[in-house]
Amino acid sequence: MAIGVFDSGVGGLSIHHALVERLPGADFIYLADQAHAPYGVLGGDEIVELTRQGCIRLFEAGANVVVLACNTASAIALRRLQQTWLPGYRAGLDRPVNILGIIVPTIEAATGLPWTHEGEVGPPVEPVEVVGVFATSATVASQVYEIEIGKRRADVGVVSQACPTLARMIEADAPREALEAAVREAADALLARIGRAPDRAILGCTHYEIVAELFVAALPPSVTLIHQPSAVADALERYLAAHPEYDPGHGGARRFLTTGAPGMQNRLVEMFWSSALHFDPA
Ligand code: DGL
Repeated sequence: MAIGVFDSGVGGLSIHHALVERLPGADFIYLADQAHAPYGVLGGDEIVELTRQGCIRLFEAGANVVVLACNTASAIALRRLQQTWLPGYRAGLDRPVNILGIIVPTIEAATGLPWTHEGEVGPPVEPVEVVGVFATSATVASQVYEIEIGKRRADVGVVSQACPTLARMIEADAPREALEAAVREAADALLARIGRAPDRAILGCTHYEIVAELFVAALPPSVTLIHQPSAVADALERYLAAHPEYDPGHGGARRFLTTGAPGMQNRLVEMFWSSALHFDPA
C-alpha cells in the first residue's frame, strides 16, 4: 500500500518533498494532472471531476490515502467528493481508502489554533490581526480561507490575492525575472488592499512554495510566511498515527506519474528537489 499525492502539476511536489522527508520508509505515488493544468482557471464541476479521476488513478495504483497537494482541488473538490462520491466508491473496495486536503493544516499553522477549537470562544492564543493569502483565482473565489479562518478566529482579518498566471508560469519553467515580476505585482496588490503589511502570509497554492524566496523578497521582513509543506507533513503524521488501518507501505518506493508529457520535470522542480525527477505516463 502507499500514500498518493495529487496535484494539477508540479506544485504538489513541494508538499510531497516534505512528506517523504517526514515518512522516509513509506511508499509514495505522485500524480500530476498536467494534461489539464492549471486548475485555478477552470470551473468548479471540472475541478471536481478531474480530482475524482486523479484519486481513482491513485487508488488503483495502490494508494489507500490520497493527499490533495493542491489548494484549488482541496477548496473546490474535497468536501464534495467526500460527501457524494467517496462513500459509494469505498463500499466497492476491500480496503479502507480516504482523501485528505491541505487547507485545514494550513489554517491550523496560520492561526495557531488546532482544528478541534472550532466554535470555541476564548482569548486568541497568538496575536494575529491580518492574514494575507496568495492563491489561484478559483481558490480565492471559493473564499475558503476567509470562511474557515473566520470559524476559528473571528478576530483575524483575511485578505486573499489571486495570482492568475503564476502557477501556469511555474509549470512552464518561466524565467526568474518574469516570476519575480509576477510575485512582486501580487505582493504589492495585497499590501495596497490591506493598507499595511499582513502579520502572516499563506502561500495558498502549492506551486508558489517552489518560488517561496521570491515572496520573502517581495514582502516586508515583518511578515511571517506560512509554509504548507511542513504543516501538511505534521498533519499526515498525526493522521496515520491515529488511523493504523491506512498502511503507508514500508519499501520507500517513489513513483511519479503524469497525465501530460512523461520524462524529466522542469528546472524549478529540480532546483527545489536537488535532483532530477522522471515522470511515467499515468
Ligand atoms: N498547485 C495548485 C494549488 O495549490 C493548483 C495550481 C493550478 O493548477 O492552477 O492550487
